[in-house]
Amino acid sequence: MNGQAKARNLLRETTTYSAEETIAFGSTLVELMTPPKMVLLRGDLGAGKTTLVKGIAAAFEAAAEEDVTSPTFTLVHEYRGPRANLYHIDLYRIDTPRELETLGLDDLRSENSVLLIEWGEKFPRLEWDVEVHLERAGESGRRIRISG
Ligand SMILES: Nc1ncnc2c1ncn2[C@@H]1O[C@H](COP(=O)(O)OP(=O)(O)OP(=O)(O)O)[C@@H](O)[C@H]1O
Ligand SMILES: [Mg+2]
Repeated sequence: MNGQAKARNLLRETTTYSAEETIAFGSTLVELMTPPKMVLLRGDLGAGKTTLVKGIAAAFEAAAEEDVTSPTFTLVHEYRGPRANLYHIDLYRIDTPRELETLGLDDLRSENSVLLIEWGEKFPRLEWDVEVHLERAGESGRRIRISG
């Protein structure tokens, strides 16, 4: 069984209608994301993956919403909180398994770590504890499903 098949039980499901609602939903996910965790954030460009992380990071008291920005160019953003070190990672610009190795994700994994990874499904070798799937439902609707 590969990593993407491992995260299989539907844990939470909702539809949000604004970025604010997605942030608020993200802030309810702390219990599902107690470290250590590898979390796949799956969804198209603009689906709301980074927006959801704003809520998660705020609820972990690791960063203010407005300080969470897309790691598109920096690839890894680190937010340290009292209960977890969050690593928000964007693999959109990573194309080969070798580039992935260079990022050193394995070195970030620890008892205190939650890795929140956008575009992680590009790399089947990665294994997930939790998978978050965001899908557009109209202009501002986003169906969000969490499995683990
Ligand atoms: N219900 C909603 N939930 C989240 N974002 C929404 C919603 N409705 C509209 N938006 C808008 O959609 C955009 C989501 O952008 P965001 O950067 O979170 O997406 P992303 O999935 O991280 O994309 P990328 O793959 O480019 O990193 C924002 O501009 C946000 O304001
Ligand atoms: Mg993003």
